[in-house]
Amino acid sequence: MSDSLTKANTIRATNILRVKTESPTVKTFTMADNLCAKANPGQFLMLWIPGIDEIPLSISDAKEGEVSVAVKQVGDATKHLHDMKTGETVGIRGPFGNSFTETRGRVLLVGGGTGTAPLFFLAKKVSAKADKLSFVMGAKTKNELLFLKDLDSVCSEESVISTTEDGSYGMQCLATEPLEKLLDKQKFNMIYTCGPEQMMRKVFDLADQRGIALEASLERLMRCGIGLCGSCVIGKYRVCRDGPIFNLSQLREVVDEFGTSKLGFDGNRIPI
Ligand SMILES: Cc1cc2nc3c(=O)[nH]c(=O)nc-3n(C[C@H](O)[C@H](O)[C@H](O)COP(=O)(O)OP(=O)(O)OC[C@H]3O[C@@H](n4cnc5c(N)ncnc54)[C@H](O)[C@@H]3O)c2cc1C
Ligand code: FES
Repeated sequence: MSDSLTKANTIRATNILRVKTESPTVKTFTMADNLCAKANPGQFLMLWIPGIDEIPLSISDAKEGEVSVAVKQVGDATKHLHDMKTGETVGIRGPFGNSFTETRGRVLLVGGGTGTAPLFFLAKKVSAKADKLSFVMGAKTKNELLFLKDLDSVCSEESVISTTEDGSYGMQCLATEPLEKLLDKQKFNMIYTCGPEQMMRKVFDLADQRGIALEASLERLMRCGIGLCGSCVIGKYRVCRDGPIFNLSQLREVVDEFGTSKLGFDGNRIPI
C-alpha cells in the first residue's frame, strides 16, 4: 500500500461542523478533515457512524479544511446519521477512488437523486473552463431536486432541464427523456453522469450510439474501500480502487453487469 493510501485509510475522529437540510430525505453534513478537504469531484469517503456502521459517501464539496457529503436517509446507518447534530463525533477514512477528468468544451451533466451532489461539486470546478455547461437533473418530486437554487452560480437558467416523475416541477418524465432530444439537437464534448444505475445505463447507451465521451460514477457494495475485500467488483474492476468513475470504454467492458446486476451483502448476484 502506498504511503498516501495508508494515510487516507487511517480513520480520523472528527466533529460534525454543520448540518443542512436539502430536502425531506437528504441532509448535507460538513466535517473538519484536512485530507478529504483536498479531494477532487468524484472521490468518496467512508463515514463511520459510531456504534452503527461505516458507509461509503460521495464527496459533495471540499475546501479549506472541510469536507461535505449529501446523504439520503434509506436505512439504519443513514437514519442514525440524520439524527446526529452539530458537534457530534464521526470517523472518516479517505478520500478514496479516482475523480472525474476535468474537460473543456461543451459539457453536459446528467444527475438523478443524490447523484446531483458530486456533479454540482464538479460543475463548480469545470464551469470556468467549459465553453458551455448544461445540466439535466431528475428526481421523483420537486422537493427532491437538489441544489436547484444554487445552479445559477454555475450555469444559465436555459441550460438546466429539470424533470420530476410526478410532474410537480419541470417536465413530467425521467431525466433520460429530454436528454435524447438534447443530444439530437446539440453537440457535446463530454457527458458526466451520477445517479440511479438504470438511468446511467441509458445515458451510456445514448452516448455510445453517438460517440460522445462519457464518465459515470458507479456504486457497488463497499466494505474496505481500498481494493482488498472484493465486495465492489464489476467485471474485472473493483469500483472502490479502479473507480468509482468509469469512462465509456471501461463501461463497454462491463456492459453485461452495468445497470443489470451487482453483488449483494451475502455475495450472491442480485438484480439492479
Ligand atoms: C461510492 C459510493 C458513493 C455513495 N455516495 C452516496 C451519497 O453521496 N449519498 C448517499 O445518500 N448515498 C451514497 N451512497 C450509498 C450509501 O452508501 C448507502 O445509501 C448507505 O450505505 C445505506 O446505509 P443504511 O444503513 O442507511 O441502509 P441499508 O438499509 O443498510 O442499505 C440500503 C441500501 O443502501 C446500499 N448500501 C448499504 N450499505 C452499503 C455499503 N456498505 N456500500 C454501498 N452501498 C450500500 C444498498 O443498496 C442497500 O440496499 C454511495 C455508495 C457508494 C458505493
Ligand atoms: S470495497 Fe473492498 S474491494 Fe472495494
